[in-house]
Amino acid sequence: MHQIVFTSRAARSLSSDDVARLCDQAALRNAVEEITGLFLYDGARFLSALEGEVKVLENTFARIMSDQRHFGIEILSSREVRNREFARLPMSCPLTNDDPRSTNAVEVVKSSVAGLSDIKARAYFIGFAKLFR
Ligand SMILES: Cc1cc2nc3c(=O)[nH]c(=O)nc-3n(C[C@H](O)[C@H](O)[C@H](O)COP(=O)(O)O)c2cc1C
Repeated sequence: MHQIVFTSRAARSLSSDDVARLCDQAALRNAVEEITGLFLYDGARFLSALEGEVKVLENTFARIMSDQRHFGIEILSSREVRNREFARLPMSCPLTNDDPRSTNAVEVVKSSVAGLSDIKARAYFIGFAKLFR
């Protein structure tokens, strides 16, 4: 099982509806491919964790890398994990500033990353959630 965490910047042309659509499509596809993870968007940047079988993840990430809807992709962590560290659920969809859950974003994110063994990755997500409050 492989796990990757990356950040990137949204293309300027992207509306919040576009991002919601992107996330819904990605969540559906990830469910089929048995990829779990977490996806956050703060209005300008994405922070995403994906985990799954290594070959499947490679293909997914190759598609993500060539996606024109974002740029400046930076891999923050890429490692083998013994077991899934995110719930076996479709990827969560974005918490944005106008999402009612955003008032509670830090708590939502904290509980989503509670099982992450990589403490740095955990800090990235919690820090990101704190920043967009
Ligand atoms: C920030 C960001 C995160 C994405 N995350 C995923 C993802 O987790 N899973 C996925 O299948 N596609 C994800 N996508 C979408 C892919 O880049 C791609 O558009 C999608 O998989 C469909 O690919 P296809 O048109 O070649 O079939 C993401 C795109 C962006 C910009």
